[in-house]
Amino acid sequence: MSFPLILTERMTAHPADSHRLDRYEATGGYETLREALGAMKPEDILEQVKAANIQGRGGAAFPAGIKWGFLAPAEPRYLVINGDESEPGTFKDRQLLERDPHQLLEGAILTSFCIGANHAFIYIRGEYPKPARRVQQAVEAAYAKGYLGQNILGSGFDLDVTVHLGGGAYICGEETALLNSLEGQRGEPRLKPPFPAVEGLYAKPTIVNNVETISNIPWIVANGGDAYAAIGDVDSVGTRMFSLSGHLKKPGNYEVPMGLTWRELIYEVGGGIRDDRELKCWVPGGASAPWFVAEHLDTKVTKDDCARAGSMLGSGAVIVMDDTTNVVAAAHRIVKFFAHESCGQCTPCREGTTWLERILWRLLNGAGRPSDIDLLLDICDGISPGLAWPPRMTTICPLGPSAVSPITSIMTHFRDEVEAMIPGLQEVAHA
Ligand SMILES: Cc1cc2nc3c(=O)[nH]c(=O)nc-3n(C[C@H](O)[C@H](O)[C@H](O)COP(=O)(O)O)c2cc1C
Repeated sequence: MSFPLILTERMTAHPADSHRLDRYEATGGYETLREALGAMKPEDILEQVKAANIQGRGGAAFPAGIKWGFLAPAEPRYLVINGDESEPGTFKDRQLLERDPHQLLEGAILTSFCIGANHAFIYIRGEYPKPARRVQQAVEAAYAKGYLGQNILGSGFDLDVTVHLGGGAYICGEETALLNSLEGQRGEPRLKPPFPAVEGLYAKPTIVNNVETISNIPWIVANGGDAYAAIGDVDSVGTRMFSLSGHLKKPGNYEVPMGLTWRELIYEVGGGIRDDRELKCWVPGGASAPWFVAEHLDTKVTKDDCARAGSMLGSGAVIVMDDTTNVVAAAHRIVKFFAHESCGQCTPCREGTTWLERILWRLLNGAGRPSDIDLLLDICDGISPGLAWPPRMTTICPLGPSAVSPITSIMTHFRDEVEAMIPGLQEVAHA
């Protein structure tokens, strides 16, 4: 497997001080910015990002260049970088924030120059004090060296960066809830349209991008969009950070080219299943994603291949479960998370996720009723009509449908195990 480490090369080569400005500069950092501000126009950067065809790394995989092109002409404009990272199993942005904050800042400056923003915000989850401290130190160091502030490197371009800590709510990762939170309001998603690119922070045109998406921008501008698009697969290009966790021999964050198979990611990159046990299933893209089983091992790790197989790459969190796993307990844990994190605006999500969690709990505790399987599916259908993938929504945001994924997953792949937990069900079924 030969590919450039785009995001993690510096932290791999210089683990002790990859977060420091002197190390960043000594390894070519801010050179791209210096050259771009001297020689490139904003539209030249947009052209490279469009050619790179990088899909956003926050979950929805929307192409960044296209999103930037949608920006309304009004001013001021803002860049908001999403470092909320609260999806269970996802811990890649933490590493990028903590270990290479200047890479993110250089990306933020290049992006802001491209989209015409003079103020960028980095929103970091409240439970990430060390990453937030490192980013704040990096911002201060960048101001002191003239990479931020007025007339950056003599170019006439001005940019201020504000680091903002969230209060610890998962829903604040949803981009419009994040904007409300930044404005000091309750972190509740807004109805779309209008999308943030038209009416975002303080009702002004705003680009919201994930930490990993923006961390790729210096490499794309330095090497060209075509070079980036040449890495990976046809529909999903570049490298991507995956957070591997669960019953693996080598859990951790890994940067790999897009387009490996799941077999390669789990058995080669992740080292295979602990104690050489059997693989039972895995969550391929964060807790919201429908689960995969052994028949999907040779599916490619790309947006389109995973969508065709009925799931998604989402936030890049891969949670692997071996044959000792009680899948009802696993589904219950995930649904409980979503029920706890529902913001409560939409009835199907607020009520439905809580019902789902309670029914799974009674199943787990031997008090399940023969009607519970139909009831679970009926509630799921109320949250996500037709139980289709991608979900159809009765809610403002996809948090509610996220709680449906673990249930449809266990019903599709492990229905016999669910039925076996309900006293009397086998007798009723065979009467
Ligand atoms: C409930 C919910 C939580 C989300 N959490 C995050 C998050 O923690 N980080 C993130 O980048 N995107 C998150 N997203 C996706 C964002 O709404 C948005 O699509 C993303 O930040 C855009 O950046 P990208 O295009 O670079 O991926 C979440 C979405 C939903 C519905």
